[in-house]
Amino acid sequence: MADEQGETVAETERLILRDWRDGDWAPFWTGTNTPAVMRWLGGVADAEKRAGAQERLLSYRSEHGHTFWVVERKGDGALLGFCGLKRSNQAGGPIGAMEVGWRLREDAWGQGYAREAATAALDLAFGRFGAQEVIALTVAGNGASWGLMERLGMARREDLDFDNAEFDPETGRIIVYSIAKDVWQAGRIGTLA
Ligand SMILES: CC(C)(COP(=O)(O)OP(=O)(O)OC[C@H]1O[C@@H](n2cnc3c(N)ncnc32)[C@H](O)[C@@H]1OP(=O)(O)O)[C@@H](O)C(=O)NCCC(=O)NCCS
Repeated sequence: MADEQGETVAETERLILRDWRDGDWAPFWTGTNTPAVMRWLGGVADAEKRAGAQERLLSYRSEHGHTFWVVERKGDGALLGFCGLKRSNQAGGPIGAMEVGWRLREDAWGQGYAREAATAALDLAFGRFGAQEVIALTVAGNGASWGLMERLGMARREDLDFDNAEFDPETGRIIVYSIAKDVWQAGRIGTLA
């Protein structure tokens, strides 16, 4: 919908999280559809997969009011990737659970951007979107992603792990982390103090 184009949902010290604009897709894919970024996401996406992903990101927004939002750097307006919230929809997993996720351009890695964006997304999940718990999914090989989950204070949930070979055909397994609202908020008070 036109009135959702580019709406800012959160602002952090260095970043803006906002809704998608039509003009975002080209720089998003140029920056993130690389072998390194897509290593644990099924590999570089062809046109059909890219179109499917775009459609899903827009449908999350229209169905739930949140999505994996554009992460824009305030300093230069660069589109770094996405970070945000969806309802988990991976076959075999905890369908419908509030899920946080992230994907950034390689040249933006290692500078704390994902943590900064994910912190804003978790604040939104437990605030504006009323979640009691947020999960995150990855695969054992994706140390950057589960490292971030641990850095955010999320706990490993082996009880929720499930079989799905979409991201790591070798193990065929998706691993799950979660954090509850009270744990997140207690940690945030510590951070802000
Ligand atoms: C996962 C990803 C978003 C992390 O982005 P990032 O901006 O580099 O992460 P940050 O700099 O904010 O790091 C935050 C924390 O994550 C952890 N982390 C980040 N990269 C890591 C790595 N390569 N190995 C281990 N831990 C890592 C660290 O705990 C780090 O905290 P610290 O800097 O205080 O040690 C990025 O690597 C990415 O886009 N990967 C490709 C896409 C992808 O796989 N998405 C997830 C699918 S499940």
